[in-house]
Order: sequence, then C-alpha cells, then structure tokens
Amino acid sequence: MSNIANRLLRQTVLATVIITSIGSPAVFSADEREVRETARVELEAALQLSGDPERGRSLFATCAACHGVDGAGQSDGNAPVIARQHRSVVLKQLVDYRHALRWDLRMEHVVELKKFESLQDLADVAVYVSQLPRVDQVGYGPGEHLQRGSWTFILQCASCHGASGDGSSTARIPRLAAQHYDYLRRQLWDIAEGRRPQLSATHDKWLSDLEQTDVNGIADYLSRVVPR
Ligand code: HEC
Ligand code: HEC
Repeated sequence: MSNIANRLLRQTVLATVIITSIGSPAVFSADEREVRETARVELEAALQLSGDPERGRSLFATCAACHGVDGAGQSDGNAPVIARQHRSVVLKQLVDYRHALRWDLRMEHVVELKKFESLQDLADVAVYVSQLPRVDQVGYGPGEHLQRGSWTFILQCASCHGASGDGSSTARIPRLAAQHYDYLRRQLWDIAEGRRPQLSATHDKWLSDLEQTDVNGIADYLSRVVPR
C-alpha cells in the first residue's frame, strides 16, 4: 500500500475509533472492511503454517537490532519484551502492522522488508520468538500504586488476560506479565485514547474509564509479575 493510502486509512480508522468509542455502533468504510478482511484471512493462513524455528533464528537478526538478541526489548519501554509472547499474538501483531491496523513506523517498516514478504517468513520468526526463554529483568514502575493496580487488574482484566497476565495462545490474548512498565503504560494510554484500531471500542472504554493511578498501578503490577 502506498504511504498516502496508508495515511488516509489511518485517518479514517482513527475517526471511526473516535466515533465508536463514544457509543455509536462500529461503522467501517468499504475500504476499511476490505483491509480488515484481508488481514483476517492472512492471519488465519499464517496460523496454519508450522513455523521453522531454525529459519526463524536467522530472520530474527533483523528484530534483534531493537528487541535484543534475547527478545528482552529495552528497559525504557521503547521496544517491548517479545520473548515467549504467544505465537498467535506475535503473528497477529505482525499482520496488523503490515496492514496499518497497528501503528508504529519502525514495525511497519520491518514488516514491509523483502525478507518478511511471505507468510512463511512471519510464521518462522513468530515461532522462534515464542520459544525464546523467559526474560526476568524488565523496567519496573515506582511501586506506589501496586496494590491498587493488582486489584483493578484482577477484577477487570484477569478474566481474559489471566490473574498473572499470561494471556492465552488459543484465544490470541497477549501475555502482559513481565513486560516493561513504560511500554505497558504507553499501550494502556494508546488503547484508552483509541490509537489501537484492532481493539474493540469496549476494550478502549475499560481503559479510558480508569483513573491514572489505576493505569500506572496496573502497568507496575504487570511489570513485576513473574510469568508462568
Ligand atoms: C527498528 C526497531 C525495531 C525492529 C527492527 C523490530 N521491532 Fe518490533 N517493535 C519495535 C517497537 C518500537 C515496538 C512497539 C511499537 C508500538 O508501540 O506499537 C515493537 C513492537 C513489536 C511487537 C508487539 C509486541 C506486543 O506485545 O504487542 C512485536 C510482536 C514485535 N515488535 C516483533 C518484532 C519482530 C518479530 C521483529 C523482526 C521481524 C521486530 N519486531 C523488529 C521496534 C522494532
Ligand atoms: C474480553 C477479554 C479482555 C478483557 C476483559 C481485557 N482484555 Fe486486554 N486484550 C484482549 C485482547 C484479545 C487483546 C489483543 C487484541 C489484539 O491485538 O488483537 C488485548 C490487548 C491488550 C493490551 C495490548 C498488549 C500489547 O502489548 O499489544 C493491553 C495493554 C491490554 N489488553 C490490557 C488490558 C487491561 C489493563 C484490561 C483490564 C482493564 C484488559 N486488557 C481487559 C482481551 C481482553
């Protein structure tokens, strides 16, 4: 897709997100529905492929430039931990970046590189990432609102993300445990403010209804949870 088309799409997606998050039913333009459908079909096809972790290892050299050779990201939260993220979640995010359904210029550039052109390339790198060993050292928050954060998370988020933030590979729910505090905080605000077009308006609202101390507390709690 050309840059201009990408940008136009972003604007319509953003406008739609804003409209849906104030309560109207989701109305997508025909173009947008087509993009979403293409991404959905692509993800289903990619999930059917069994990835080759050895090939994934060599492709991962590109990713390591930002996420580190161990997939630990950066403790300032600029790049997230991706080691041990569920294969289905990694694949979904890569496909979403490819179709401008998740916005980050660095990631959008990576998935447009020739070497990640085929779904097999994405499947190979995703399986390698999902098998990387657990990362224990991440960037934590200040520890001020941990109790409040953990209660809010358990009451409002654990039904899907799991009490210890492990998510689910089959349900394609991201693992959030032991993720950098600053990365989580950024995503939580992005979601609350409608900058993650693949998340439902309901998911956006759960976060926009929270107070700042809850949001910071949730991010801090998750950064310190030892994942399974
Ligand atoms: C130029 C730096 C850079 C490179 C190279 C890079 N990434 Fe990223 N990646 C990022 C940044 C920054 C983010 C966070 C973007 C955001 O906020 O949406 C990210 C986000 C992600 C996410 C989403 C994580 C989540 O929990 O939702 C995944 C998955 C990911 N990258 C995988 C990869 C893979 C696989 C590669 C190699 C094919 C790669 N990245 C290469 C910088 C990079
Ligand atoms: C009904 C199930 C459900 C509930 C409840 C839920 N989530 Fe989610 N969440 C999801 C799914 C599914 C995704 C992945 C969406 C996608 O990228 O396709 C997600 C994505 C996220 C992400 C993005 C992760 C990343 O790195 O990309 C964050 C952060 C998050 N949720 C936090 C929360 C918090 C905090 C709560 C509670 C206030 C919550 N969620 C409640 C299902 C849920």
